[in-house]
This record gives sequence, C-alpha cells and structure tokens, in this order.
Amino acid sequence: MYYESLIHAIGNTPLVAVNFGTPPRIYAKLEYLNPAGSIKDRSAAFMIEEAERTGQLKPGGTIIEASSGNQGIATAMIGAIKGYPVIITVSEKVSKEKKTTLAAYGAKVVICKPTGDLEDPEGYYATAVRIHKETPNSFMIAQYFNRDNPRAHYYSLGPEIWNQTGGEITHFIAAAGSGGTICGAGSYLKERNKNIVVVGVDAATSYLSTKGHPQPYQLEGLGVDYDSPHVAAAPIDEFIGVSDENAIAILKTMAHKHGFLLGPSSGAVAYAAYEYSKKLSPKDIVVIIFGDSGRAYLTKNYFE
Ligand SMILES: Cc1ncc(COP(=O)(O)O)c(C=O)c1O
Repeated sequence: MYYESLIHAIGNTPLVAVNFGTPPRIYAKLEYLNPAGSIKDRSAAFMIEEAERTGQLKPGGTIIEASSGNQGIATAMIGAIKGYPVIITVSEKVSKEKKTTLAAYGAKVVICKPTGDLEDPEGYYATAVRIHKETPNSFMIAQYFNRDNPRAHYYSLGPEIWNQTGGEITHFIAAAGSGGTICGAGSYLKERNKNIVVVGVDAATSYLSTKGHPQPYQLEGLGVDYDSPHVAAAPIDEFIGVSDENAIAILKTMAHKHGFLLGPSSGAVAYAAYEYSKKLSPKDIVVIIFGDSGRAYLTKNYFE
C-alpha cells in the first residue's frame, strides 16, 4: 500500500484504548499521527481542494490563513506540495515550536497581538483579512466561517469513527476552536444514530463559555471566541469548559502513566472525558479526539 501524495496519507488515524479506570470503554483518535501533525490536516486539505475546484484559489495564488498554529502548519505543508506561497498570521501566545514549524515548511509567519477579538485590527484574524485584501490573487481559507471546514470532518473523521467502532460509539467528545470538528464529525455521527451523545470541550473562560465575557487563557487550539456558525450548526448535547490548570496538569499524567504525549487541547479533552465518564456505564463506548502532540509544546514546560 502506498500513496502518490502526502495529501492522500491524511486521515485513517488509529483509535486506541485509554484506560482512565472509569466504567466505559474510551478510545482516542490519534490525530497527531497525520502528516503535518494534527487534526487540521483534514480541514486544510479539504478547504484548499474545494477552493481549487470552485476557482477561488487559482494557479500561482497565495494562500492566507489566521491560525492558532495547526491549521497554518497543515496549510503550509499543502502549499509546499501544491506550489502555492503561504502566509500565516498567528497570535504571539502560540508555541515557539509551532511558529518555527510554519517557517520550516516555507510559510511566511506574521506574529500578532494576543486577543480574543477577531475584529481587533492588531489581532491575527483581522491582520489576515487585511493581508488578503492587499495581496493580489490571494485566497483566505477563513476556517472560522468557511463551511467546508465542518464538511471536511463530516466526510472523513465522522465516517472513520463510525466504521472503526462498528457503529457502537455512544459518546463523542472533542475540543472546539472553530467548531469544525465537533460540527462535522458530530453531525455525521448523529445522522447515523441520533442517540449518540456529542460533547464539546471549550476553554472555561472563552467567549462562548463565559456567555460573552471572556478572560485570557493559555490553552491553544480550543476556545470558542466568536459567534461560530459551525458551533451554531453542531448537534452538541453538552459543553464542558476546562481551565488552563486542569488541561495542563493532566498532560504530565497522560505522558508519564499512559504514554500519550499530548498538546493542551487534548489535555482538556482527556480531563473532560475522565470527569464525564465517571457517570457512564460499562456498556458505553466513548470516542475522544487527541488533536496534536506534546512535541509542539515542549518549551512550554507542561511535562516537567
Ligand atoms: C490541536 C487542536 N485541537 C483541536 C482544535 C479545535 O478544532 P476545531 O477548530 O475544528 O474546533 C484545534 C484547532 O486549531 C487544534 O489545533
């Protein structure tokens, strides 16, 4: 079995048991095993290929995206494969490793003021919009609003989870940043079986979790900081807000006791799944998403 392109090697990640000592069976989808290292390979590939198909991205065009790092890294990899220049805006709070990885794939990286406000002119989102307007023949992916983002997960992640569990999944727990994952995979799973419970994991002090009164948080990758059309369209039964402290504290246990070297959004998912699963039964089958690896955060000292 071989692939003609790295893009074809995206997805089909393993589903591996995690033993928290709580009643249900819990399986983690190891999204950090994607070629550029995160779940965002799926959405970047799908959104870029849809943009090519619909003519929004033309030969020689520049791809622009605002990212908490991983969407940008996946975009940079795909831009390298397909020959498009890539410009990525990120918040200063993004790990050094993620910024260096973007540059290593040949992307231009623009570092912006940390802010939870997408409209802030100095923030990473508004800066990407400005660069897009100033750059002729450019395409901005705009994962926060692009409906091909959830579609990517509807067509790949959702069916994989359904097939790998033989349709026996009872609960799906995933982090929400843009909301693409929870909306796309959650919708697919609910369509197959409406009794599957979909649980979104958010930063405890995000715009969504605080009902419009956000406070800064360290976690990267998750945190719904705007009125997300993807979250609005997602069949979410419950949201769990996780603090920086709880998401980060569990990372060490996951690495030292279980061998999963995880990034902070997966720490939040692991913590939420551990707490939530205490009330479930041995008949339940819970699928959780580990979105990226701890290797992208080693300089943040989460594992010491
Ligand atoms: C590691 C990681 N996990 C989870 C998410 C959240 O995914 P989504 O944007 O689909 O809600 C992201 C988003 O950047 C991420 O990088």
